[in-house]
Amino acid sequence: MDSFIPLHKDLPRNVTEVLGLAWGDEGKGKVLCFLAQWADMIVRSTGGNNAGHTVVYNGVKYPLHLVPTGIVRGKATCVMGPGMFIDPKVLWDEIEFLRKNGVQVTPRNLKISDRAVVVLPYDIIKDEWEEEKKGKSSVGTTKRGMGPSAELKATRVAVRMIDIFENTYKDRIEEIFKFCPKEIMDSHPSLKQECIEYCAEYYVKLHPFICNTQEIVNKSCERGKNILFEGAQSYYLSMTNGYYPNTTVTDPDASGTLSGGCVGPLHAKYVVGVFKAYTSRVGNGSFPTELFDEKADMIREMGHEYGTTTGRPRRVGWLDLVQIKYAVQANGVNCLAINHLDTIGEIGLKNSEKILVCTSYKQDFNHYSVSEVHTVPTNYENVKASRFEHFAGWKIPKNCKTFDDLPKEAKAFIKYIEAYVGVPVAFIGIGPKDEDMIVRGTFTHDQ
Ligand code: IMP
Repeated sequence: MDSFIPLHKDLPRNVTEVLGLAWGDEGKGKVLCFLAQWADMIVRSTGGNNAGHTVVYNGVKYPLHLVPTGIVRGKATCVMGPGMFIDPKVLWDEIEFLRKNGVQVTPRNLKISDRAVVVLPYDIIKDEWEEEKKGKSSVGTTKRGMGPSAELKATRVAVRMIDIFENTYKDRIEEIFKFCPKEIMDSHPSLKQECIEYCAEYYVKLHPFICNTQEIVNKSCERGKNILFEGAQSYYLSMTNGYYPNTTVTDPDASGTLSGGCVGPLHAKYVVGVFKAYTSRVGNGSFPTELFDEKADMIREMGHEYGTTTGRPRRVGWLDLVQIKYAVQANGVNCLAINHLDTIGEIGLKNSEKILVCTSYKQDFNHYSVSEVHTVPTNYENVKASRFEHFAGWKIPKNCKTFDDLPKEAKAFIKYIEAYVGVPVAFIGIGPKDEDMIVRGTFTHDQ
């Protein structure tokens, strides 16, 4: 369609988003760390310390939950956007850990949005309480207080960073405790005072970092700076579009990630979708390609699939291309990153020379009819993986640097994924270290 309204101006397309395409833990940190070399600014904009990104940089392992991982490179301005839920204690411990390891963290290179929600001790206690109340239908949350702080945000009584900055948190906390369930009040009689003292302590420590990040980020956008958005959680944990109700409480998709940083969609240039060569999930809910037998143990052990945030053993299964393709469409992903190509190759060698990849589901409509589907339905509980493509395993050779250096079986696996999903794979993770990554084509973030 011809545009008949003259465009006001061309906006610089200078934002790269890195998103997870499954249920989290796809290895976004590694891709982020690589892309951070070009970034002038790195923005984290959704969730809180329910996320965990581990980066290994200059031989030091940084398990970060809140601060954008790119801070370890020391070049970019790091921003924690309005869409975040921030536990001040966890943030302060992280800042101190970074400083102890020689990473400079100052109000010049770390900006905390004054609109971000503050996670209080109350939220953590309520998260545990709600999960216990739900019993069998519990979500399996990370118990980091995300749900309750989002409830308070929706009720419009949450403490935000601006309340810490302007010293107005006491009134907010009084409001919050009007909604505190009696059971919690009775079992934690001093909780309100604890929350007040918590804010008072972190008022002193975090005050210099709190500002209006909206202005800073958008000025950088207008000036054409390279901006990297660090996705947290993943598409299928999105509350609006994920496997509801077993989701988190934010929308960590392509749009939610931008709006959580207060940036408009026309600035996006690349949406990098990260996934693993198999699938993993923590928490409860449907998982169409899940494995339970010794194959599951093999993937879990070989892929080190234990939660960074909670230490829980992750549920694991085969790669689900129905799920990946749907997430690619729904987020406008234009570039893929696959991790654990080395792990799945070796699993293939051990599993009587076979790697499986799911290519369609069977959906059971209340036992009335069963049909084959190639998309992700709204009622996930009644889908099962039904068709699989089979691949032979491989071992990644030493000094493997380019796509051409990969064994032919591994190349066939990547090419099959690209053909099925319709988007090129630009990044291929072939080992645990950040440098164990093949970068294909001429991907750069230069304008
Ligand atoms: P919550 O975000 O702690 O409320 O947990 C809701 C669901 O999202 C649970 O199944 C969690 O295990 C899952 N979840 C939240 N954050 C992450 C993440 O960063 N990686 C993987 N799963 C997550």
